[in-house]
Amino acid sequence: MLAASGSAVGLGNIWRFPYVAGENGGGAFVCVYLLSVLLLGLPIVVSEILLGRCGQRNPVDTMRVLAERSGHVRAWSLVGWMGLAAGLLILSFYSVVAGWLLHYLFLDLIVGMQDMTKAGALAAWEHLLSSPGRLLLWHSVFLVLSGGVVALGVQNGLERMVKVLMPLLLGMLLLMVGYALRTSGFSSAMAYLFKPDFSALGASGMLAAMGQAFFSLSIGLGVIMAYGAYLPREVPLPRAAGWIVGVDTLVALLAGIAIFPLVFSHGLEPGGGPGLIFQTLPLAFAQMPLGSAFALLFFGLLLIAAWTSSVSLLEPSVAFLVENTRLKRLPATVVLCLLPFLLGIGCLLSLNVWEATFFELSFFDFLDYLTANVMLPLGGLFIAVFAGWFLKREMLARELEGTSLWVRRTWLFLARWMAPLGVLVLFLYQLGVFGA
Ligand code: PHE
Repeated sequence: MLAASGSAVGLGNIWRFPYVAGENGGGAFVCVYLLSVLLLGLPIVVSEILLGRCGQRNPVDTMRVLAERSGHVRAWSLVGWMGLAAGLLILSFYSVVAGWLLHYLFLDLIVGMQDMTKAGALAAWEHLLSSPGRLLLWHSVFLVLSGGVVALGVQNGLERMVKVLMPLLLGMLLLMVGYALRTSGFSSAMAYLFKPDFSALGASGMLAAMGQAFFSLSIGLGVIMAYGAYLPREVPLPRAAGWIVGVDTLVALLAGIAIFPLVFSHGLEPGGGPGLIFQTLPLAFAQMPLGSAFALLFFGLLLIAAWTSSVSLLEPSVAFLVENTRLKRLPATVVLCLLPFLLGIGCLLSLNVWEATFFELSFFDFLDYLTANVMLPLGGLFIAVFAGWFLKREMLARELEGTSLWVRRTWLFLARWMAPLGVLVLFLYQLGVFGA
């Protein structure tokens, strides 16, 4: 459970949620995001843990073995394959973004945050983005950190840290919210975040909100499945799932409540894009007593949160290689890090010098879109369908032993109907099938 919440809480909550919400007009986006978390995310988290605990292997072999045992085609393992691919693709840009964090940590250590002005924060951000060398350096450092933990097989250590650091991160977020409360932009920010204006959303905003829910919960790619294998039988499934989903959503909402008041009080653009937290947070730290120290703590904690998430992106692929080839952990990790390393270079160049577009998106945005808005929902759909319709009855019953009847019924309904149809409808809506 620690591992799973360590995977879920990361840059997705604190970096991605505010900026994607800002790009999609706020309130209505948050509304669809919360609905997706509850109606699609929760049943899929349960499905993943259930399948993982039942299959006891990496996602590819779990899907294959469970399909065979339930009397279905082995092709279900393709869901696992897509998940491994999605994990490596996400890691490519995730590591670039975590690199930004490293840069800001470094900046804070060297010059501090006390003199940060609005213009200065903007300039610092643009300076970072325009420098491929610097981006490459931090991207590489972060990838080595993540690969290192996976290669050495010391995830446990990192996960045990989650127990201490997660409450600290929550505490820091509350502190930032406390600061935001006293800024002039607080009430406009609350209205922006929680008063839905659906005319501002549209099909692509709805898809983005669902994608954000999947990305933030780490679902649809078998990561929670891989960790589900370790969940002891005594722990009731719904409780474990509820905990992961609750913590993850709380952190995202707090991040939004901490950041948007800064955006509004400083007259910044909510739709300012991926740099949103890096342009706003330093301004808050500049005005706090001991701001540089708090900045260090905050960015440091976020870095560790990003680290546990990136380890979870890599681990299932490494487990698959180690279990199915003669490769040892270290070479398996090195081989698998090569792809995110190279694709990550593409991402960071697309922020400055590489102008090619893919479906009208920069390479960075394209990878982000492809994974969060397409691959994860699709993976989640198949996972829910498999758990709800195809898994052998006896296995299902054994996994759900001890949970109350209404919980079982609700989950079964959500996994069989709600999750697949929800994803499908949003896909079709985005494709313009309903004539929008
Ligand atoms: N959920 C992680 C975050 O919010 C990112 C992630 C996505 C991790 C998918 C693993 C799998 O930062």
